[in-house]
Amino acid sequence: MGMHIFRRKDLDLIKEDAESSSEIHLKRSLGAIDLVSLGIGAIIGTGIFAVIGTAAAGGPSHLGAGPGVMLSFIITAVACGFCALCYAEFAALVPISGSAYTYSYATLGELVAWIIGWDLIIEYAVGNVAVAIAWAAYFHQLFFGLGIHIPEWLAVDYRSAHQAAEAVLAAGGTVSPDIVLPYEAWQTAPTVFGFHVIFNFLAIAIVAGVTWILVVGIKESSRANNIMVALKLVILLFFIGVGAFYVKPENWTPFMPNGFAGVWTGASLIFFAFIGFDAISTAAEECKNPGRDMPIGIIGSLLVCTVIYIATAAVLTGIEPWNKLGVADPLAAVFARLGLNWAAGIVSLGAVISMTAVLLVFQLGQPRIFFSMSRDGLLPKYFARVHPKYQTPHITTIWTGVVVAVVSSLANINEIVELTNIGTLFAFVLVCAGVIILRRTDPDRHRVFRAPLVPLVPLLGIGMCFYLMLGLPAITWIRFGVWLLIGLVFYFSYGFWKSRLRGRGGVKA
Ligand code: ALA
Repeated sequence: MGMHIFRRKDLDLIKEDAESSSEIHLKRSLGAIDLVSLGIGAIIGTGIFAVIGTAAAGGPSHLGAGPGVMLSFIITAVACGFCALCYAEFAALVPISGSAYTYSYATLGELVAWIIGWDLIIEYAVGNVAVAIAWAAYFHQLFFGLGIHIPEWLAVDYRSAHQAAEAVLAAGGTVSPDIVLPYEAWQTAPTVFGFHVIFNFLAIAIVAGVTWILVVGIKESSRANNIMVALKLVILLFFIGVGAFYVKPENWTPFMPNGFAGVWTGASLIFFAFIGFDAISTAAEECKNPGRDMPIGIIGSLLVCTVIYIATAAVLTGIEPWNKLGVADPLAAVFARLGLNWAAGIVSLGAVISMTAVLLVFQLGQPRIFFSMSRDGLLPKYFARVHPKYQTPHITTIWTGVVVAVVSSLANINEIVELTNIGTLFAFVLVCAGVIILRRTDPDRHRVFRAPLVPLVPLLGIGMCFYLMLGLPAITWIRFGVWLLIGLVFYFSYGFWKSRLRGRGGVKA
């Protein structure tokens, strides 16, 4: 048994598996521009439109970075840059659906691959829960601005509303700006036998819509994504362009009101804004020329986003004092408070569009990871079915949609963001480690793209990811540990016994 958990899937076998079976083969239809676009689609979203406010102003579990949030972005971008180089090497080498899961199966063995696959559920599905929640808040606000009032109790979760009601009670009736929406929900919700009926219906609705698009087909969803990406870039540039006229440089001092500790925890939180460049690799199997296009897609999208983020952070913290930014929709709120309601409306529209694009990419990625795990026998075969007409992994797409929709109707965004970050950082650590290991175990393999300065770059990636993980609260570490334990129970009761690598050629132990 000891050796079995370290069995590795030979890289050639991985490619052969993906290419041999027509039943579980995905269409190759994406090019380099589609991939950069897919990346930006995944990257720019909730992080820059919502989490930036909490990172700058601070929250219940961490100190605010203040204007130093610009520095938080730089630290996180550097960490992601190291990891992106490692992802690019792997994605070009193993252009197979399944991302970090597939890479680690080839390098670190089956148990670690399973752990990563399980861990990626946190990045993709749990991450999307946070995005759906933020989407609902912005959508609610956008319609409010248009004069259409969607009841608040259909746009937040029960627990946040209850906590907001308690906070207002404790503060003697004062409603702080960051809890206006959940507090209103509590006030206006219908009650059944004394129970407040509050659930995030808007989050359910958007996840259902996105799931439907993805079942219908990859090319269609990629085209929709391209349009949304163009729109959201324009809208962020609009924020920077208009906002620049209202910047008061005195708001930038003190630059680090909570010292470097605030910048550090801010970086751990704002990491959420960068998650996504790696999601491109999950579409490798559907891409026309992965060797050239994957590195362009991953590194190009990361670069574009970093520049825009730093400019956005500079403008945002320049418009208002940092401690006023802790609201659900900071980019729109600063404009609204300047009396620029039209501009706030445009930004809210941009946020809704951006987050829809993020939802699309992650809902696209998650089923493909399940699909790969199922093809390897670590999950039941049922998950590897492809729709006869649409050629999409419809079973896993629908299951992912149902679970994300249900959880996002009940969950609290801050906790979900922190959990997503720790899970994703951990996956990045394992990918960086995988690059070092594969260079040693398989040095002669032709690498279309080579990460520079190995092992230094992957080691720096590992170190920086750990550094960001340490900036997250203890409760997040505990939740993450419990999640991994549940995963191990699953593995030893199913995947370990059913793995296709049992007794097959190409197995290394
Ligand atoms: N980076 C993605 C976002 O911020 C997950 O929404």
